Amino acid sequence: MPSKIILIAAITADGYIAKDDKDDMAWSLDKALFKKQTSGYPIIMGSNTSRLLKAPLPDRENIIVHREDKPENIIKKIKTETCFVVGGGKTYTRFAPFCTHFYLSPHPLVFGSGISLFKNLEKPINLKLIKSIFANKEKQIYQNQYEVIL
Ligand SMILES: NC(=O)c1ccc[n+]([C@@H]2O[C@H](COP(=O)([O-])OP(=O)(O)OC[C@H]3O[C@@H](n4cnc5c(N)ncnc54)[C@H](OP(=O)(O)O)[C@@H]3O)[C@@H](O)[C@H]2O)c1
Repeated sequence: MPSKIILIAAITADGYIAKDDKDDMAWSLDKALFKKQTSGYPIIMGSNTSRLLKAPLPDRENIIVHREDKPENIIKKIKTETCFVVGGGKTYTRFAPFCTHFYLSPHPLVFGSGISLFKNLEKPINLKLIKSIFANKEKQIYQNQYEVIL
């Protein structure tokens, strides 16, 4: 079972991760960093997100989850020390209570409506900022890396 479960997301300034469930995220500017960080590790994604991909993301075990899957059972089966939860909104919400770290890259966009990072999270989560790194230096997009405080 992994000791590091990292939720990774691109978010708008108003906290959305997509315009709707068909949004292919052409707006996100952190794809190179996402690829670098997640390659070699299992990634957990919801079935809606997987349907938007042309093919499984290479060099990573793609774990697709469905509504009947229990997050704790999915996580228990993972053999690596690190894994990533890569979305979308329903999947972030269901797996958030099990995550140890949040890697969030706020984008200079306001959608006004859409799919938010979380919907009806059971309990608040306290975070401590560990560091901020460039997700895209040219566009001045940072990734904030938080640790979950228990
Ligand atoms: N900004 C980012 O970093 C980022 C990252 C990834 C994805 N996204 C975006 O997120 C969007 C998709 O998010 P999403 O929330 O629609 O889907 P999702 O989390 O990708 O997948 C939906 C998941 O919820 C389950 N589900 C559906 N209805 C449910 C219900 N009533 N109760 C419990 N589980 C249910 C599905 O299971 P079944 O298979 O059984 O239906 C599936 O596991 C896309 O637009 C994608 O581009 C953004």
